[in-house]
Amino acid sequence: MAKTVALVVAAGRGRRFGGDIPKQYLPLNGRPVLRHSLARLAADPAIAAVRAVIHPDDRDLYDEAARGLALLEPVHGGDTRQDSVRLGLESLASLSPDKVLIHDGARPFLDEALVARVVAALDDHDGAIPAIAVADTLKKGRDGLVETTVDRAGLWRAQTPQGFRFGPILGAHRAAAGNELTDDSAVAEHTGLRVALVAGTEGNVKITTTEDLARAQVAFAGPGYTCVGNGFDVHRFAPGTGVWLCGVRVPHDFALEGHSDADVALHALTDAILGAVGAGDIGAHFPPTDSQWKGASSDRFLAHARNLVDGLGGRLVHVDVTLICERPKVGPHRPAMRQRLAEILGLALSRVSVKATTTEGLGFTGRREGIAAQATATVWMPV
Ligand code: CTP
Ligand code: MG
Repeated sequence: MAKTVALVVAAGRGRRFGGDIPKQYLPLNGRPVLRHSLARLAADPAIAAVRAVIHPDDRDLYDEAARGLALLEPVHGGDTRQDSVRLGLESLASLSPDKVLIHDGARPFLDEALVARVVAALDDHDGAIPAIAVADTLKKGRDGLVETTVDRAGLWRAQTPQGFRFGPILGAHRAAAGNELTDDSAVAEHTGLRVALVAGTEGNVKITTTEDLARAQVAFAGPGYTCVGNGFDVHRFAPGTGVWLCGVRVPHDFALEGHSDADVALHALTDAILGAVGAGDIGAHFPPTDSQWKGASSDRFLAHARNLVDGLGGRLVHVDVTLICERPKVGPHRPAMRQRLAEILGLALSRVSVKATTTEGLGFTGRREGIAAQATATVWMPV
């Protein structure tokens, strides 16, 4: 199968948008704008590898936006979009891809069907771009006055991801270096490549102004639905000196017994997220019979569940965990636990809750034989 890679350009300064933080790193429903397209592309089975092109000043913002996603190391961009793409393409040459998708990091709403249309068109063309036929009547104006009406027949609004056969577009970018062409189709046209038009989507907007971001927030609220999943898990005590709870090591007179690190809270929470999207349970994804999970740190299970939601185009909204035990005392560790969950899940602290209760000495937790945990995950899914 032809190897397709994706290049996401995010080295711009967002001058038209303004503000201190570049627009691609601002939150769009709890996640940086850039993360939306990175997560989508990384989860697309048709794409072998994803690389972002970033500004050297943005490394920390990028690390935050890309946390937990399976991506290639980012490379630095240049002063213009065209330069950033060329530098990105040069960095991908060693992977010898057949096809490359070049996408604006400021365009968070691409969907898998659109990506598939672009990739498919590359079997017959050097390039393919998603575009929408212009519907409004077009005017050319000067000094606030209409000069003339422009015939809109045959005019299209170009979007990204724009796809190309790798060799030809790298050659075209080398030949066109130093211009300020605003998309890669323009670079391809420069060297006479044949570029097909495929259907874009109205939703696949680029965030250019603050107004665009405000509209995108509204668009994200629907159409979609909220689903809630719950999870429950128990591990028994065994000899040891501490337990893992919510990804935090808590000193104790016992350890918890289990195939992995036995983090009962992370297991319950992983199941809650899987439950919200109907994706089975933790045992189906990480069979206890598989020796590779022996002693595994359970944050991997949780990150896997989160990535699954991302890949479905969904969004984790909120999580709530309750630990049920007499000992160890959870209270002193609660802030660290919330912090760790927020980190693993890429959620704001305000969307993460950790609670604890005893069972008043009753039952197995009352007898201090082990720890139970239950969890709820709220997920927003597109229709
Ligand atoms: N881009 C880039 N390198 C540049 C300029 C732009 O990687 N030197 C990226 C942007 O980060 C964005 C995409 O190209 O994801 C589309 O560019 P645009 O919307 O124009 O973003 P900015 O250049 O950041 O915004 P502005 O033109 O308003 O400054
Ligand atoms: Mg720009």
